[in-house]
Amino acid sequence: MDVTSEESVITAADQMCRLFGGVDILFNNAGMGSRPNIPLEMRLKEERLTMETNLMGVYRVCKHFLPLMNEHGRVINISSSTCLAALNMLSAELKADLTRLDRSSHEYVKHTMDVFQVHHTQLLNATPAPTRFPAAYPFSKMALCVLTQILAQELYTTNRRSILIHSCCPGLLDTDLTRASWKLSMDAAKTPDEGAIFPVKLALDQSITSTSGSFWLNSKLSPWFPSPLPPLVDSSSLLPTKPGPVTLQQRITQLMKEIWARMLRCSPKDVS
Ligand SMILES: NC(=O)c1ccc[n+]([C@@H]2O[C@H](COP(=O)([O-])OP(=O)(O)OC[C@H]3O[C@@H](n4cnc5c(N)ncnc54)[C@H](OP(=O)(O)O)[C@@H]3O)[C@@H](O)[C@H]2O)c1
Repeated sequence: MDVTSEESVITAADQMCRLFGGVDILFNNAGMGSRPNIPLEMRLKEERLTMETNLMGVYRVCKHFLPLMNEHGRVINISSSTCLAALNMLSAELKADLTRLDRSSHEYVKHTMDVFQVHHTQLLNATPAPTRFPAAYPFSKMALCVLTQILAQELYTTNRRSILIHSCCPGLLDTDLTRASWKLSMDAAKTPDEGAIFPVKLALDQSITSTSGSFWLNSKLSPWFPSPLPPLVDSSSLLPTKPGPVTLQQRITQLMKEIWARMLRCSPKDVS
């Protein structure tokens, strides 16, 4: 799936629906950033693609996958601690505007893309380029945290409260993005497997119930992007009582059995 293409996302969502009938866990992990030290024109092109991938891409995927989410599903948006730096770089006026939660998710991403476009057109025309407006990577991750909160509110107000959505930063990781594109020092970096531990915990840990919309940094709730929702959305109270609560873990095990059964052309009961 190419998250910058609406058609590709729709095709993937249709396939998911046809093959599995719904979605339990959605990870929005796809992301990129523009490379430093490249000509300005090329940099701005990569910056626009970064916004298309990191912000619009997540919105597009949520737009087509959230309707397929099963009860008690989890959505994890991979953000970055750089979102906090972006927040600090914005003027007070822009910061207030871009952290408003009273727009729909559609209006928010459209508005944020427009703001970005205006500032980047100014960057292109300025010599030397002003540096106060954040680059696309931290800016997109900041907007992603706000979008996550707005989506949480939309799920809440449309009575899909058992589906929780979070944004989180996995920490500095030794990946193509940081090593090859940004050439960062990897001394303090975690492996991708280590970086996946907390996001996976967010998706599977049934005790995390009350924080939909929040941003998690270093495995802790960040006070910068607190949940916009009433403090206790205890999804355990929303578990079905008949025929008996099915945990997400059990549902995943069942799904894995169904996948193997399909591949082995046998009954799920025969897969151990
Ligand atoms: N590395 C870090 O230190 C760090 C820290 C905080 C947050 N993050 C976030 O973690 C996520 C993964 O980054 P990474 O470090 O693992 O970088 P990476 O090694 O460059 O991986 C990026 C992944 O995103 C996919 N991708 C890019 N554009 C896409 C598109 N249009 N449609 C679908 N998939 C697309 C890539 O797929 P292809 O391989 O097919 O191109 C690749 O699998 C990103 O959201 C990043 O912002 C990373």
